[in-house]
Amino acid sequence: MKIEDITNIIETRRSHFAKEFNGSIAPKSLIENLINNANWAPSHKLTMPWHFIVFEGNSMQILTTKILEIQTSKNPELSAEKISKIKNIPQKVSHIIAICLKPSFNVPLWEEYCSIGAAVQNMYLTLNTQNDFGGYWTTGNATNTQEMKNYLGLEETHEHLGFFFIGGINQKRTLAHRNAVSVEWK
Ligand SMILES: Cc1cc2nc3c(=O)[nH]c(=O)nc-3n(C[C@H](O)[C@H](O)[C@H](O)COP(=O)(O)O)c2cc1C
Repeated sequence: MKIEDITNIIETRRSHFAKEFNGSIAPKSLIENLINNANWAPSHKLTMPWHFIVFEGNSMQILTTKILEIQTSKNPELSAEKISKIKNIPQKVSHIIAICLKPSFNVPLWEEYCSIGAAVQNMYLTLNTQNDFGGYWTTGNATNTQEMKNYLGLEETHEHLGFFFIGGINQKRTLAHRNAVSVEWK
C-alpha cells in the first residue's frame, strides 16, 4: 500500500447522518466486518475495553422506543421535530451499534477511552469502502443515561459511549475541510 492510498481513505471518510439514510438494510457481513476491524484497535496491555451491542430489525424499534421514553422523561418539552426524528430512526437506519466501555482497571481509564476512539475510527474507515452505506457516531440519543445503561445491561462501572448508526445512502459525500494541523517540531 502507498501512503497516498491510506491518506485518501482517511481524508474521504465522512459522517453520514440519519437524515441522509434511505432505509436500505446493510448485509450482515458488512456489520461483522466493521466490528471485527474495530477489534484490531490498539489498547494498552491489550485490555480491549470495548463491548458492542448490535441492534437490527425489531430490536432497533424497541431501542428507539426506549430512547424516546428517556428523552421525553428528561425533557417533557421535547420538540415535535425532535420526537419525529427519533420515531423515524427504524425506517431510516439499517443497524445501530451501541459503543460500550468495560474498563479493565489495569490501565488508566483515559487510556481506555482512547482505545475506544481508535476502535470506532476503524469502523468509520471500514465503512468508507462502501458507496451505498454510511454512518456516524452519535453521543446523543440518551447516551450513558442510567436508564440507557440499565437497558443495555451495563454494570455501574461500565460506560455507554454512544451509538454508531449505519444506513443506506444515495449520495456518498467525501469532501470536507480541516484547519491546519496543530504541531510543533523541536
Ligand atoms: C465522540 C464523537 C461524538 C459524536 N457525536 C455526534 C453527535 O452526537 N451528533 C452528530 O451529529 N455528530 C456526532 N459526531 C460526528 C461529528 O459531527 C463529525 O465527526 C464531524 O462533524 C466531522 O465530520 P466527518 O466525520 O464527516 O469528518 C461525533 C463524533 C465523535 C468523534
